[in-house]
Amino acid sequence: MSLQDKRILLIISGGIAAYKSLDLIRRLKERGAAVTPVMTTAACEFITPLAVGALAGGHVFTELFSREDEQDVGHIRLAREHDLILVAPATASLMAKMAAGIADDLAGAVLLARDCPVLIAPAMNPKMWSAAPTVRNLATLEADGVMTVGPGTGEMAERGEAGKGRMAEPLDIVAAAERALAPLETASKPLSGKRAIVTSGPTVEAIDPVRYIANRSSGRQGHAIAVALAALGADVTLVTGPVSIPDPAGVKPVHVESARQMLDAVEKALPADIAVMVAAVSDWRAEDEAAQKMKKKPGEPPPPLKLVENPDILKTVGHHAALRPALVVGFAAETNDVAAYASDKLARKGADLIVANDVSEEGVMGGARNRVTLVTKEGAESWPAMDKTEVATRLAAWIAARF
Ligand code: CTP
Repeated sequence: MSLQDKRILLIISGGIAAYKSLDLIRRLKERGAAVTPVMTTAACEFITPLAVGALAGGHVFTELFSREDEQDVGHIRLAREHDLILVAPATASLMAKMAAGIADDLAGAVLLARDCPVLIAPAMNPKMWSAAPTVRNLATLEADGVMTVGPGTGEMAERGEAGKGRMAEPLDIVAAAERALAPLETASKPLSGKRAIVTSGPTVEAIDPVRYIANRSSGRQGHAIAVALAALGADVTLVTGPVSIPDPAGVKPVHVESARQMLDAVEKALPADIAVMVAAVSDWRAEDEAAQKMKKKPGEPPPPLKLVENPDILKTVGHHAALRPALVVGFAAETNDVAAYASDKLARKGADLIVANDVSEEGVMGGARNRVTLVTKEGAESWPAMDKTEVATRLAAWIAARF
């Protein structure tokens, strides 16, 4: 059992035990977990988002209606993109909110929209812990499948008070988190033992040391697919062109620039069971790359640019004589006749599946959402418009179902 590469959403609510959450973040990170902190308004009275963010190594989410946070991920995605939600400390008030399904702040909304296990570490005054509403709420939460660690018995922060209500110690919470994630390790890793190669981002083809030809691509869809396959247990090599998004955790990134380098990296990563070619590979490159910067010459026409065709990576992999992966997936950007063009590509490139995206829809290129049609020999299946991460999750599940 390990927390390595597990994505934990840590909700910190407002109690004096919040100071222990700082140590908890350290302990979780030491074990390789990625921690996304969410703080309630009351939590910010006890510890600062600055300290939490510094320890977690990333953004701290505090508000439900923050324009920036919502644009960044949105509370629904926050709720969905984690392996475990950990609430530490869980105050009496937050437990009441969870039991009633109240979503009037970010913590409440994320808890209500979740689809992963939840573990709470209650912390409160002993009288509040034994109060009838708390007892009722705990029973409701347990019936809803929420797991609990602690509270322990001991002295309270309030002078002279002792009893049950102390938040469990960080290492006990870590052990409980490992137990909470144990079923996930075995049950939901249908691709464990399988190797996958994903290409993502654009390729960049040099004209001279400062100029290049490239395709537009943010790498978001490809990176999300790499993450989704890794989440199902696949051993993923992500071959990516230059993008501005970070390397995801839990995959092996290989950085390349040109189509030829991308092909080389993909071939080196073979053999694999699954290949998903999402990169927007430049179809052409300059025939001759100038060794020095080409200079403007007054009165002379611009230099001619002779293009030659790049290797087709998907086609090479799809027709690989010795090492063709069992499942080869390509992408196709289309503006019209989506299914017809995609089935032509399926045959030409030797793929088992073409995921065609309709780029005539506004905001698909470089945006967060995508509308795709899956085309196989058997036929076409259209999915509604959804987040690129959702497309990735569904596609990974589709791939897992083939094995
Ligand atoms: N692809 C590739 N290597 C290339 C070109 C494309 O691996 N040199 C892959 C892409 O990663 C994607 C699919 O092939 O999976 C896209 O095919 P492509 O023929 O480039 O499709 P479009 O970009 O839609 O272009 P067109 O419609 O002009 O054929």
